[in-house]
Amino acid sequence: MSIVPFPPPVKPKFKFIDLFCGIGGFRLVLQSLGGKCVFSSDSDAAARATYQTNFGELPYGDIRKLTNSNILDEEIDRLIPNHDLLTAGFPCQPFSRAGVSARNYLGQNHGFKDIEQGNLFFDIVRIARVKKTKFLLLENVKNFLTHDQEKTFHIVRETIEKDLGYSFNYKIVNSSSLVPQRRERFYIVCFRDKVHFEFPNFQGEPLPLRLILEENVCNKFTISDKLWEGHQKRSQRNEARGAGFTVKLANLDKPSGTLVSRYYKDGKECLIPQQGKNPRMLTPRECARLQGFPEEYLLPNSAAAAYRQFGNSVAVPVVIRIAQAILEKLDTIDISNRRITKSRIQNSS
Ligand SMILES: C[S@@+](CC[C@H](N)C(=O)[O-])C[C@H]1O[C@@H](n2cnc3c(N)ncnc32)[C@H](O)[C@@H]1O
Repeated sequence: MSIVPFPPPVKPKFKFIDLFCGIGGFRLVLQSLGGKCVFSSDSDAAARATYQTNFGELPYGDIRKLTNSNILDEEIDRLIPNHDLLTAGFPCQPFSRAGVSARNYLGQNHGFKDIEQGNLFFDIVRIARVKKTKFLLLENVKNFLTHDQEKTFHIVRETIEKDLGYSFNYKIVNSSSLVPQRRERFYIVCFRDKVHFEFPNFQGEPLPLRLILEENVCNKFTISDKLWEGHQKRSQRNEARGAGFTVKLANLDKPSGTLVSRYYKDGKECLIPQQGKNPRMLTPRECARLQGFPEEYLLPNSAAAAYRQFGNSVAVPVVIRIAQAILEKLDTIDISNRRITKSRIQNSS
């Protein structure tokens, strides 16, 4: 039997569900803080495979099979195990700047009107309502706050505060003081009990990209002459008209730009300069490090899948800080129908 690098905790302190779990960035954190994952789901087969390799559990597929309008609340209650915390980095493309402009260009709907991916927020809400989840930790792109003249944000806030009756806290966090990547993400933390919550402070010196670079990187990561020339020509054209795509070599003394799921296509978001050669792409292990994943985390065999999966994932050290701040509130919240005090948690660890 193969050994799983991240098995569940032996004596769990709380239970959580991992929706839109991707490759398990939230799970890594919550397990390390004593949480037991009782349900996970992701519609992408390759992400599910990476998750299974690392956590020993194959997530459920498309969550809408459990939450669509044909499914009664009683069935959801039966199918999804009881839990304390729900995490969800729900799909961001319908709300991101790039996703919105691509959809506008193609004449497609964006935001909540994107019926494939835009309204998955309401599936989360339905699960939380039926299961009476105690706290929610949600993540999306920075643009989520301003999308559609803030209408999207107001709908989300009203739904959580008024329909579900939860407290609602949010913050845009830049990860660059914890990992050498500028990654601004929108985090929402909600409590069913009225709890005063404050996000931790994420200020600090930005970390340099060189911290996570591998030595002796294989030549296959060096981009071809054709791709490099194409990047430069397109940049020159765009610079001349003062707009659009400009390829820049990474400054190794500063954090990288945001790792995105499309990075595998041409690497333009982060190209590493090399002496006497074309620049190279980041390796999958470097992408894992940029997101703060531990070295024991097993990568998928396909580099393209790794780029997509880490580009979609969360910056693990950011989630650690937020999750610790949430769990500090355990002493005031009734977990799993029994009162747990902070001192009991400390004693049991
Ligand atoms: C932004 S990523 C979340 C990544 C995750 N937080 C991590 O740490 O890897 C969103 C995920 O939602 C998944 N997804 C999209 N639609 C879905 C659906 N209907 N049901 C389940 N998962 C879905 C995508 O496959 C993708 O992995």
